[in-house]
Amino acid sequence: MTNNKPIIRIEHLIKIYGDKPRTALKLFREGGTRDSILQSTGQVLGIADVSVTINKGELFVIMGLSGSGKSTLVRCINRLINPTSGNIYLEEEDIAHVDENRMREIRQTKVSMVFQRFGLFPHKTVADNVEYGLKVRGIGKAERRNKALSTLEVVGLSQWADYLPSSLSGGMQQRVGLARALATDADILLMDEPFSALDPLIRREMQDELLRLQKQLQKTIVFISHDIHEALKIGDHIGVMKDGYIVQIGTPEELISQPADDYIRAFIQDVNRAQVLTASSIARKITPLVLGRDSTRGALTEMVDYNLQHLYVVDKYSKPVGVVNKLTMEAAVQQESEDLTSLMQTDFPTVEAPTCLENTFHLYKQGIPVAVVDEEGQFAGVLEYSDVLASIGQK
Ligand SMILES: Nc1ncnc2c1ncn2[C@@H]1O[C@H](COP(=O)(O)OP(=O)(O)O)[C@@H](O)[C@H]1O
Ligand SMILES: [Mg+2]
Repeated sequence: MTNNKPIIRIEHLIKIYGDKPRTALKLFREGGTRDSILQSTGQVLGIADVSVTINKGELFVIMGLSGSGKSTLVRCINRLINPTSGNIYLEEEDIAHVDENRMREIRQTKVSMVFQRFGLFPHKTVADNVEYGLKVRGIGKAERRNKALSTLEVVGLSQWADYLPSSLSGGMQQRVGLARALATDADILLMDEPFSALDPLIRREMQDELLRLQKQLQKTIVFISHDIHEALKIGDHIGVMKDGYIVQIGTPEELISQPADDYIRAFIQDVNRAQVLTASSIARKITPLVLGRDSTRGALTEMVDYNLQHLYVVDKYSKPVGVVNKLTMEAAVQQESEDLTSLMQTDFPTVEAPTCLENTFHLYKQGIPVAVVDEEGQFAGVLEYSDVLASIGQK
């Protein structure tokens, strides 16, 4: 998960392909479009003024149709492609403007890349492939070997160290590609459609594997995908590209609940929203009653003022301990019975905040709102069945 510390900051990045980038840049700054610039100069606007901040430890997906500029953008981050204009800060260093020697060091220690077609050397063993980046850095044989073996263990391939890549399935070969990137200890991994060449089933396994590794290793991953389902499944944030621009950046939930335009709407139209939206994203943040502080009268006032049939009661640690309903409160107030303890229902449905809506459907049978709790078990709001249906488009 992300800790909100920027590790990559891209500012006003522009990449123009062709032999007259300055002329094209001038046209772009005067308001030229990708098409008009191509027509008048023959230059291709690969990246059009992109700014994006990626936090340490997050998995940031860059998504978009083919030709939208995804590969160009990540290749600028390790300068396999030189940007035409703009800045790319890795922590505090602007790597858009460092020399090739420094860039080589950065590639060997800070940013490693995993390619779509694995990019393995066919005549080197699996272990030699994984060692490669360390060898380039001049690390001794024994140390290299140890590191390669321990990294192969992380991706579950230690028994295959001495085989050639061709003896392995596609999914296993991509694990080797991943191990090679991990062996460098780089904090940042760039992955350009790493799973696109894999069968759907293997691909899903690899996505799960990546999420597991990400949790364990806490790398920052910039992951390119043209598949919205993949993006929504693995991304902490997703940046959607079109024609060299970033159209929207958001969490999976933000993209599907507030798509910026028709391009994004078209991407998300087949998405099963119940699998993406979480309990916390649609929970109503209703202030609960506090046991020992609030009386039945206070409860009734709240329920009348906010037109609620049910209201949750929490203890002094903010943990939900019961729920009261309006009829009971009306009767109690009439009978001048003040204490909530004996009047609240203590058997109530709860759900943890990150649970996706799809896994909450068994909770609405009691006909009372579901209490949403955060990771400490504290009350974080309520889920109403009608809100759930509305948010997934069933009402
Ligand atoms: N070396 C190049 N020379 C000229 N145009 C290129 C080059 N590489 C990419 N492009 C163009 O830049 C645009 C973005 O390409 P790319 O970053 O590869 O997109 P994506 O990875 O999203 O498919 C495309 O229009 C592509 O044709
Ligand atoms: Mg690409």
